[in-house]
Amino acid sequence: MAAHYQIEGSTSAAISASVEGGIRGGALAPGAALPAVRALAGELAVSPATVAKAYQELRQRGLVVTAGRHGTRVCPRPPVATRRAGLLPPPLPGVRDLSAGQPDPRLLPPLGPHLAALAAEIGPPAGYATAAVVPELAAVARERLAADGVPAAEITVTGGALDGIERLLAAHLRPGDAVAVEDPGWANLLDLVAALGLRAIGVPVDDEGPTAPGVRAALAAGARALIVTSRAQNPTGAAVSADRADALRALLAGRSDLLLIEDDHAAELARVPLHPLAGATTAWAFVRSVSKPYGPDLRLAVLAGDEATVARVAGRARVGAGWVSTVLQRLVLALWRDPATADLVRRAGESYERRRDGLADALAAHGLAAHGRTGINVWVPVPDETVVVTALRDAGWSVAPGTLNRIAAGPGVRITVSLLDEADLAPLAADLARAVRPTAPFGFTA
Ligand SMILES: Cc1ncc(COP(=O)(O)O)c(C=O)c1O
Repeated sequence: MAAHYQIEGSTSAAISASVEGGIRGGALAPGAALPAVRALAGELAVSPATVAKAYQELRQRGLVVTAGRHGTRVCPRPPVATRRAGLLPPPLPGVRDLSAGQPDPRLLPPLGPHLAALAAEIGPPAGYATAAVVPELAAVARERLAADGVPAAEITVTGGALDGIERLLAAHLRPGDAVAVEDPGWANLLDLVAALGLRAIGVPVDDEGPTAPGVRAALAAGARALIVTSRAQNPTGAAVSADRADALRALLAGRSDLLLIEDDHAAELARVPLHPLAGATTAWAFVRSVSKPYGPDLRLAVLAGDEATVARVAGRARVGAGWVSTVLQRLVLALWRDPATADLVRRAGESYERRRDGLADALAAHGLAAHGRTGINVWVPVPDETVVVTALRDAGWSVAPGTLNRIAAGPGVRITVSLLDEADLAPLAADLARAVRPTAPFGFTA
């Protein structure tokens, strides 16, 4: 209980503003429990309905979550800027930070030479009237997507994968609607779903992607959208296999009541073939980011989909932010066209693979199972996240607790391999094994 922060107010608006102020100022930390409705109503001398309305408003905006007997708590990453860092404690000096989920900065292509070349050839500045999706970028994106089996007649460009997903959800769903997401899944996506006032339904994941029974159950529970990570699933590294794609396509075939979103954030970095679901449903979108292979700061993704879905996203952007800077689009085009960059991305993919496989082998030598077919993370199921995270910090490693990623899935920790070198793998595995013991047999699919 956040006993040190006094929530105030005599109306629901004032009470929710007071809670928001507490979150913003850091007095109500992520995960902090709010008082029970009746208790707070008594304290503030208002009716329980007034407090319940305040909590409902905060819930719809994704600032708090209510989870049955656990009561109402501040979300892990509420959508207001806070003056204090989130759930993860700041890294201690000397502790290696493997919690970040970032690509290895040493393996991102240098932008300098491309920016210099661009400066020489960019031509007159684009204005409001002329800015749009750069036709050459669209042409190359279409070619690349079509080569991977994604129908890409209709495409637009967004400010990254998550921006595309947000626009898709906002265009198709209404607050209170249910979205099927992978469980465990990407923490930012869970936060976004909460911030949009949507309900997340967890779909279990194995190494081949979301399970068919899980998707079936989510559909039966009324999901209006399904978000599938094509490759490098975060945190498990799963990639949708050919068989799983067949099974999911059969399940989804012809559905007109469900928006299907595929997130191919690893794109050219993934070292497994794409098995897309694109086109299985009437409303669908396939989002491919440039963040992982070319750099998160480029903030660009290509979004392909059916005509109506793409038109909604592009049309909404037009009356809002407008477009993604053509300067960035031209920079991405230059990166795509450069064979030396393609070579760097290929080598980066190999390097991640070596480190993921090396860590999995080192853990296997200690009898520990790990998941990480693709991408930059390895997911290790553990009996108790707090014990393992704390013990590893004491041993000099900071890893991410899976609680940020989970709805009903079993506990685990996520290890980003970006900052790991060959020589780190054996000592890290030994420290992890010590932290985990005694182990019990379990899987991560809940
Ligand atoms: C599953 C997943 N999708 C998307 C992204 C990020 O995409 P973007 O930077 O294009 O928003 C990440 C980043 O970690 C991710 O894990």
